[in-house]
Amino acid sequence: MIDEHARKTIEGFIKKFPCGDSALVPSLCLIQKENGYISGSDMEYLSEILNLPEARIFSAASFYSMLHLSPRGKYHIQVCTNISCSILEKETLFDYISKKLSITDGESTQDGLFSLEAVECLGACGYAPAMMINADHYENLDFNRMDKIIDLIREYENPAEK
Ligand code: FES
Repeated sequence: MIDEHARKTIEGFIKKFPCGDSALVPSLCLIQKENGYISGSDMEYLSEILNLPEARIFSAASFYSMLHLSPRGKYHIQVCTNISCSILEKETLFDYISKKLSITDGESTQDGLFSLEAVECLGACGYAPAMMINADHYENLDFNRMDKIIDLIREYENPAEK
């Protein structure tokens, strides 16, 4: 939901640029930063504020992979499923994480802690397999390291369950 503060910030974007179209991407980034994702009602409201068709808002929001149209986990895991990252083990890292967390591409764990996304290439082919969790890169992964990373996050988030 676009609150009053976000609305004022978006109006500031509009004043800064010559047309509403130029304020579109900064506005989408702002909504995502505030809400974690961009909902259908956010796009509808943004369409009114920027005086742009809803289809224009949706096309921009769905084009950029860093913008999300549905809620994500607190820790969004993007796993490279391209060739260099998929040939090192019999089972791919993506499949391993998917089984470990019991979620598949685009899903979130029930506690909202993790979400999983298969991506094409993270630009770390020489250090495969690679993944990102939010903005952090992880390279040269194996299943053992993967387990440790997930366990450390769980411990950090639920210290009482240690
Ligand atoms: Fe996996 Fe490029 S192929 S990072």
